Order: sequence, then structure tokens, then C-alpha cells
Amino acid sequence: MSAPKSHNPAGEPRRGHASPHHDRAEAAGAKIQSPSASWSSPLHSLSGRRLALVVTGGVAAYKAAELARMWTRAGAEVRVVLTENAARFITPLTFESLTGQPAYLDMWDRPQFEIEHISLANWAEAAVVAPATADFLAKMAHGLADDFASTFMLAADCPLLAAPAMNSRMLAAPATRANLQTLAERGVTLIAPGTGQLACGEVGDGRLADLETIALITARSLGPGDFVGRAVAVTAGSTREPWDDIRFLANRSTGRMGLALAQAAWLRGADVTLVAGPAVPAPPALPGFTFQAVETTVDLLAALREVDFQTLIMAAAPADFRPAERTSGKIKKGGGAPLLPLAANPDILKSLPREPGRLFVGFAAEDDDLLRRAEAKLRDKDLDLVAANRAGPRRGGAPPQPRHGRAASAETEVPSPPTSGSGDAFAAADNHLWLVFRDGRWSEITVRPKFAAAWALLDVVRTLRPADR
Ligand code: CTP
Repeated sequence: MSAPKSHNPAGEPRRGHASPHHDRAEAAGAKIQSPSASWSSPLHSLSGRRLALVVTGGVAAYKAAELARMWTRAGAEVRVVLTENAARFITPLTFESLTGQPAYLDMWDRPQFEIEHISLANWAEAAVVAPATADFLAKMAHGLADDFASTFMLAADCPLLAAPAMNSRMLAAPATRANLQTLAERGVTLIAPGTGQLACGEVGDGRLADLETIALITARSLGPGDFVGRAVAVTAGSTREPWDDIRFLANRSTGRMGLALAQAAWLRGADVTLVAGPAVPAPPALPGFTFQAVETTVDLLAALREVDFQTLIMAAAPADFRPAERTSGKIKKGGGAPLLPLAANPDILKSLPREPGRLFVGFAAEDDDLLRRAEAKLRDKDLDLVAANRAGPRRGGAPPQPRHGRAASAETEVPSPPTSGSGDAFAAADNHLWLVFRDGRWSEITVRPKFAAAWALLDVVRTLRPADR
């Protein structure tokens, strides 16, 4: 096996651009981290962003308070505008208390030199109407502007989003449908309402969309968009190999890294398919995000064969072996310990066709000799990139080395197994990744929350071109 040759730090590029300054500073030992290096959840991608939330007069107005809180907790600056009818359901003070920012209601009650609905329009990076009543949507569609909220929306030239909430017959009314169509054609992102019990007691369409969905769609509208038009498949978690109807073989992978990768790729604009083992919780339903749960390694392979992807990131830890036979019912212990002969599962990465233009990213879960094993997997499985992380307790290995000293000698040597970081990646909140490239280069994503590690890995994936095979 040829040794990985040179160090090429993945770094923490902001919005996909690694800065040479950053590389030099890291080599010199300075700690420069982009904001994304601390993000531990998808909503953190909104940190530092300026969001205007327009609350209009429906019963769901009370839910807007939770939305404002969600964004504020994620580190966004949130300013709220209420219509007069919204203020019958919830007060500006509620929002001011939750966001620490002014909330606006009346165009005329704050006589200042600044024209506030215009300065707010200049300030906002995104304007989100939630809940959006039929009346307010009609005003938006027709350019009516007779209060703070409607004048602000007319003046705002940032991404506009609206989450309708109303009685299902109002939603289905031809006038509302036409208004929604007009708004969609003008580029307003409409966040589809859900189905369920409505405030009027009826059951049907028209419930305000799930708040996490609204929050995430807003984050995507402000994302870098550098994966727009790219179909990304991600796998996550352990598969389960049943030996009777109750019991199964599996491993300790939780799927957190794969889930983080799928969410980060989606936030950056990709069309994402996440195929996940049974322990991975279903993420909220999102447009452009398909979630499929599978049980076994054979199921995972079959599911992936149906996905039309350009980039595959195999973060799953599929079981390599399965019980050769599955007994129906529950094996009783009275008969003594059963013998479980195993059969080999297919290697998924090796089984998928290498169609031109497809990029294959594998993971390597290793308990020793991390980089050498990762490079061997890259060659054996014909991958474009391998992200290696530690799994299980550390065995043997070299004494701890300073990170920067290792980087300095990396032109000629394969570094020793990394010794810093959180150790076992399975089930951990953080990850420390070592990236091995096809041309022998390697680089490191220093330890950080899994979502931040996923974001940094995508910064690298974005720049890769599929190998000629
Ligand atoms: N993988 C796969 N099919 C399998 C097992 C693993 O495609 N049956 C993928 C994993 O999703 C990962 C990569 O192969 O992207 C390496 O997985 P890893 O568990 O580290 O290695 P294995 O190939 O299973 O080999 P070993 O267990 O001997 O280390």
C-alpha cells in the first residue's frame, strides 16, 4: 500500500471557501475556527442571521412564539411583526421577551425619524410569515400595503417564506389557491400546511406546518446553496440481522453522523435521500428530503439500487454478517444455547455500479491503524474519498503526539494513528475525522460536534470530481 503523501487540511471553510490565511494559521498552531465548527444541530446554521417573523391573525399565532424562540436559541436575531389581528391572539411583549428584539405592530405608534418598515426590510435576511392567513396571503399576492406587516412584506427583497394556516375550505377556495400560485410563481417559498384537527373543530388540511419544518426550510433558504441540483444519497446507522422474530445482530452505530450529513447536504440545497437502519429516528418531513428506513444489509443494498444519486455518502455501519437462518417465532431457551452459523452480507459499496459522474464517499470505522486501513478500503472499494473515524476502544498504538508536529512531518510519513479527540465515534456527540483521498493526500477534520463535522466534510465533498473509472 502506498503511503498517504501530504497533509491538506480540510479546515473549516465558511460557505465552502477555505482561506489560505486559515491554513497558514493552523499550521502555525493558532486556533482559528469558522462559526460552523461549533454547530451541533441544523438550526445552528442560522446563527448570526437576521430573521423577520411576520405573525398574522389566526389561532396558530401562539405557535409563532415557539418558532421565534427556536430561532433565537439557535443564535439568530429575530424581529417580529404582528398584524393587528395577530395581536388579539398574542402580544408583542411575548415576542420581545423571547427574542430580546423589538416587535412591531402599528406603523404610527413609534414616531421616529427612521421609517421602520423600510429599515426592517433592509435589515432582514429572510422574511417568514407564520401563520399566514388567507387574508394576508391575498394582500401579499395583490401588493396591498396598509399596515406595518404588509408594507414590510412589499418592501422586503430578501427570501420570502409563508406558512399558510386556515380552515381547509378557505385553503381550497379558488381565490386562495390562485393567490398561493401567484406567490409561488413570484418565488415566495410556501411551506405546506399539515392535515389534522383545525381550530374550527373540523379535520382537514390547513394546520400550520410543523415548527421545526418551518425553521429548517428557513435555514435552507439562507444556506450557501452549493449543493443545489445535486442528488445526494446518505446512509446511516446500524442494520439489524434477525435470527428469530424477536432478536437480531447489530452494532453500536446510532446513525447520528449519517443523519447530520443528510441534514447538512439538504440545508446546502441538495435533493437528499437518507436510507437508514431501524434505530435512526425519522427526521421531520421536508421537501427535497426522502427518508427510508430499512432493516437488514440486504435491504439497504436493495433500497440504494433504486436511488438515482450523483453522490453517495455511506455513513451507515451495515452488519457484515447475518445469521444464516432466521427462525420464525421466538427460540426458547429451554433447548440450550442455540448455535448461530453466520453468512456473509454483500459489501454495499462494492456492489453498486460505478456509473460515470457518480461520487462515492465511504467511511472507515477502525480501532487501530486508522489511515492505512482507510486507504486500503479506498482502493479495495474503489472510492473517491474515505472519512475514517475511530470505533471501539483504542488498541495499542503510538504515544500521543502533538497535532501540529505531526502535520509538519506529513510530507514524507504516514502519521501514527490519531490519539487526540473523543475516541470512539459510535454513539458519541462529537467526531474526529481523517480524510483519505484517491491521490494519496490526507487531511483532518478536528474534533467537533457531528453536525459540524458533517458540514466540514461536505466542504470537501463539494470540491471533489468523481474519478474516471
Ligand atoms: N460498508 C458497505 N457494506 C458493508 C459493510 C460496510 O458498503 N457490508 C461500507 C460502510 O458503510 C463504510 C465502508 O464500507 O462506508 C467501510 O465500512 P467498515 O465497517 O469500516 O469496514 P468493512 O468494509 O465492514 O470492513 P471491516 O469490518 O473488515 O473493517
